[in-house]
Order: sequence, then structure tokens, then C-alpha cells
Amino acid sequence: MMNGLVLQAFRTGVKFMQVKIAPSILSSNFARIGEQVQAAIEAGADYIHVDVMDGHFVPNLTIGPPIVAAIHPIAQAAGIPLDVHLMIEKPERLIPAFAEAGASHLTVHVETCPHLHRTIQHIHEQGVKAGVTLNPATPLVTLEEILSDVDLVLVMSVNPGFGGQEYIPASTDKIARLRRMLDQRGLAHVELEVDGGIKPDNAAEVVGAGANVLVAGSAIFNPHGSIAENIAALRAGASREA
Ligand code: DX5
Ligand code: ZN
Repeated sequence: MMNGLVLQAFRTGVKFMQVKIAPSILSSNFARIGEQVQAAIEAGADYIHVDVMDGHFVPNLTIGPPIVAAIHPIAQAAGIPLDVHLMIEKPERLIPAFAEAGASHLTVHVETCPHLHRTIQHIHEQGVKAGVTLNPATPLVTLEEILSDVDLVLVMSVNPGFGGQEYIPASTDKIARLRRMLDQRGLAHVELEVDGGIKPDNAAEVVGAGANVLVAGSAIFNPHGSIAENIAALRAGASREA
């Protein structure tokens, strides 16, 4: 049994642990994708976030296994994981292909997986870390029976499909409730990642609520600054008091 003080320190510990930055290459220049991945890694990216969209589950079509395979040697040489977010229907069909291409994490949406436990098992059988994610309107209760089987939970803070959208403010409370669920179950090792609309000026709020991995696309690849300056700005924002 933890006493109150220890429990409190445990809950707020995420503020003091190093927050991970996962640049989303959806907002990178696709004509120079290898170069941009390299620049993000040199600037201290902890993960490279790859947004896979099928034009069915979400209204956009993006990256498939060949692009993951193309950037994998760059990430592997630096020891940086490829964090692949599958916004696709029937993701189980493509799990082996993405694992083969070099994904280190495969995250599936609860909305696309009627047999979520089997899908998570399937990901683990490929030797890949398994993540689960949920849309803004999908409640946390859908995670209750799977939380202890996953390595990562991704909270979508925009409706998936496009980069450059505004952070949905209600996400902050959802992140805090998820952090409590993880703490209460002794699952501090499960990563709590947040995706959508993360900028230097809201990063502290998201980290303060309990996130330890921040995905950012447009804040890193689109603004005027260099990739390195933008990652540094995000990290500085994340370490401010919320
Ligand atoms: C949205 C994607 C996000 C997106 C984030 O469907 O899952 O990863 O690229 O982009 P920003 O940071 O611009 O909201
Ligand atoms: Zn994503």
C-alpha cells in the first residue's frame, strides 16, 4: 500500500520525468522525407510518429508500409522507434506488413477493432509494442479491459484525419482521468501519448494532466523556424508550469 504522500509524488512524477517528443511526419515535406526524419532525430526527437490513413476510417489517404520501410534504416541507425498510428479499418490485415517494414510500435483505434484483445496479441506476436487509441468522443471506459495488455495509450486530441487542427480543450480532463486509471492500476510503465493540436503554448497543460509523449506535426514541420528550433520550443513549452 502506498501512503498518500508517495502516491501524490507518483502521480505528479510524470512532470519530472523526461517528456518524449514524437514528430508526426504527416506534416513533413514528403519530397524530402528522409532528410526531415534525420533532422528531427538530430534535433532530439524521441520517436518518429507515422500517421497511416486509409480513406475509409478517416477521410484522408497517407502512408503505407513502403514509406515506413524507407525511413526505418534512418531511425534504426539512431536507435529511434517508429511509432506507427493506424487510422485504418481492419488494421489486423496490415499488422504483419507494418511490423516487417520496421514499426516498433503499432497503435490501433478501439473503434476499428471488434476483437481488440486478439489484435493486441497479434501485434505482440510480431515482436512489436502495442498501443491503443480512441477518438475524442470515445469514452475511456472502452479501455478498461485492455489497459493492462498494452504498452501505450494514445489520446486523440483532434478528430483524426488531418494535421494542423485545433486542440480540443476537453482532452485535458480525459488525459487526467486516464492518468488516474493508470496510477490506480499500477500501470505507470504504460506510455500516455497525446496527438493533435499540440503546440508550445499548450504542451505544459497536456503534460500537467499526465501525458508523457507528445505528438506534434504542424508545430514541428510547418512553422517558419527550423525543425530543431521547433522541437526545442515544444520541449521548453512542455517543461513550463501549467
Ligand atoms: C491526426 C494525426 C496526427 C497529426 C498531428 O489524425 O494522427 O498525428 O498529424 O498533427 P498536428 O500536430 O498538426 O495536429
Ligand atoms: Zn497520429
